[in-house]
Amino acid sequence: MTTTYEIVKDKLRSEPKTWLITGVAGFIGSNLLETLLSLNQRVVGLDNFATGFQYNLDEVQGLVSDEQWQRFTFIEGDIRQLADCSAACEGVNYVLHQAALGSVPRSIADPINTNDTNISGYLNMLVAARDAKVASFTYAASSSTYGDHPALPKVEENIGNPLSPYAVTKYVNELYADVFASTYGFQTIGLRYFNIFGKRQTPDGAYAAVIPKWTAAMISGDEVFINGDGDTSRDFNFIENAVQANILAATANDTAKNEVYNVAVGGRTTLNTLFTALQEYLAVNGVSYTQEAVYRDFRAGDVRHSQADISKIQNALGYAPKFDIIQGIEKAMPWYVTFLQNSL
Ligand SMILES: NC(=O)c1ccc[n+]([C@@H]2O[C@H](COP(=O)([O-])OP(=O)(O)OC[C@H]3O[C@@H](n4cnc5c(N)ncnc54)[C@H](O)[C@@H]3O)[C@@H](O)[C@H]2O)c1
Repeated sequence: MTTTYEIVKDKLRSEPKTWLITGVAGFIGSNLLETLLSLNQRVVGLDNFATGFQYNLDEVQGLVSDEQWQRFTFIEGDIRQLADCSAACEGVNYVLHQAALGSVPRSIADPINTNDTNISGYLNMLVAARDAKVASFTYAASSSTYGDHPALPKVEENIGNPLSPYAVTKYVNELYADVFASTYGFQTIGLRYFNIFGKRQTPDGAYAAVIPKWTAAMISGDEVFINGDGDTSRDFNFIENAVQANILAATANDTAKNEVYNVAVGGRTTLNTLFTALQEYLAVNGVSYTQEAVYRDFRAGDVRHSQADISKIQNALGYAPKFDIIQGIEKAMPWYVTFLQNSL
């Protein structure tokens, strides 16, 4: 059966658009770039390399044709500067706003910088995109907005209290989005990502996400630490599903706008199961890791369980995740093995 995503991609191939990706040198941004260029779109990218890397852009360049790469314009700039946001929005049809300082622990250590980028920077992007009269504005929201709400699976309208400064910033993004719709008639779509993973998600630094962090530790033969008892669970979602959600959101008609949507698979995997799955797929790629995991305290600000109800995005946007966690790990592992063995 032809999916909505296939239909939308065919239309984009025949009628290319101009896209702005903020945070283009990061994990999600660079994967969006790769897909959009391979669909022959024109792409403007904005990034200040706070947590993104030139080598992510270089890798995408190597994966697309020269002709496709010529359709990419990179602006090194900062979303905390309105002028940079305005320059980036010029002549753009669709904005995919990804730039932010991610990570709950980073926001606990440094709430001021997280707030500046995630709230003031986001507001600059809203103003710049509104003034440029872009056709659509899709932004990275977060499952952290569910905070302490106990219900599982998570349904968009039932949120609790935020558990970290990061969660506050992502919730404020949603509040501003609503106010921009009611005040200026500028309608947006927020995508509440649940633990996205895949190639180019950095394993480096104190704030690395669990999958790249553990994979790197296993490849280096280091200890793997599990925060808590290992029963903590997440709805891990492979990057290609998140790319699909962005493309569907950007091209959606007005009835789907001024909404937030869960972007996940709708499954739930514990940290203990994840540990075993990573071990198994590293072995498939020739890396043997036989150490036991080391258990330590729960981490401040972490939600205990997370699992999405994805019926809203399925119904409104025709989202159909193509990869479950295991298929995603299977696709991501060869990249990690090559990337990490080259950098060791
Ligand atoms: N990865 C996930 O599982 C996940 C989950 C929920 C939400 N999100 C959100 O998705 C978005 C992308 O996350 P990611 O995982 O790709 O992170 P990432 O750190 O790899 O990418 C973020 C990019 O934004 C750039 N950036 C940061 N501050 C900037 C600034 N002031 N001006 C311009 N560029 C700036 C960084 O340099 C980086 O390239 C973020 O908004 C994040 O909060 C991610």
